[in-house]
Amino acid sequence: MSLPELIIRPRRLRTTPTMRRMVRETTLSAADLIYPLFVDETIDAPIAVASMPGVSRIPLSQVGDAVREVEALGISGIILFGIPAVKDAVGSGGWDENGIVQQAIRAAKAACPDISVIADTCFCEYTDHGHCGVLHGEDVDNDATLVNLQREAVSYAEAGVDIVAPSGMMDGMIAAIRQALDAAGFTNVPIMSYAVKYASGYFGPFRDAADSTPAFGDRATYQMDPGNRREAIREAILDAEEGADFLMVKPALAYMDIIREVKDATLLPMAVYNVSGEYAMVKAAAEKGWIDERRVVLETMLGFKRAGADLILTYHALDVARWLRDS
Ligand code: PBG
Ligand code: ZN
Repeated sequence: MSLPELIIRPRRLRTTPTMRRMVRETTLSAADLIYPLFVDETIDAPIAVASMPGVSRIPLSQVGDAVREVEALGISGIILFGIPAVKDAVGSGGWDENGIVQQAIRAAKAACPDISVIADTCFCEYTDHGHCGVLHGEDVDNDATLVNLQREAVSYAEAGVDIVAPSGMMDGMIAAIRQALDAAGFTNVPIMSYAVKYASGYFGPFRDAADSTPAFGDRATYQMDPGNRREAIREAILDAEEGADFLMVKPALAYMDIIREVKDATLLPMAVYNVSGEYAMVKAAAEKGWIDERRVVLETMLGFKRAGADLILTYHALDVARWLRDS
């Protein structure tokens, strides 16, 4: 057998680390990352979240230190989730000027004025039934919830938040929040919309962390059906038209195709949420010694970027930033 005269040789560009770096199409940096923080009004010391090794709920008194650590690693921002001492049927803790998230925003900004403080803007952590808004019978009343979202977003802005991130998948939530923020003088507070959020089994560990499991039923009447692709584009375009400043796709790993499609169909910066169940799977396999955690996590983050993510919300953020710094 004789070889062909001309073999095209892609391997030529893989011969050395330097050559590989020169032709690398996608890169990852700490600035791409946003770290979720759970702040619990009812505790004085951190409590580990059993299903999310390495993640804890922290008391208000530790927010400053946590944010300083995040900033020192070059991570762009934090997203805050609050566990309030008291819950009620409508989630009024969400717009209490001394609510746990409002206090956490003030503590974070006082410690690190330059970091982006994002507040998840929803009601499931504040309602005694765990749904993402006001109930009408057993379903969430969309328009009654919009009015409360307006109050909540303005209250977070008054506390000094940099970005509000509505996550409840209510119709019209972006337009309603934009109008309320503008009317209150917060024309420069951007909205990061959880525009494409699926009704997902991957949120399980989060609901332990945030104490937000629905007391009955599920979120299928507001979050999206996992089979839908065209609807994702529709939701993203609607939120862009309503005035969103960032779009988000969530979860991330099982929805890489959606990340790419939404990126190609829209023009806003795009975030992806590498959610609690995705994190838990990797940590569990790593603890068993079945995968190389560092390698798998960095590869996954690069995959999100390659799929079109500009920003990644991830519980791995501190580890990733350290690995990038030390490599
Ligand atoms: C609140 C909210 C949830 C997550 C982010 N914001 C939970 C849910 O919708 O049930 C999930 C994050 C994660 O799983 O890491 N609406
Ligand atoms: Zn919610």
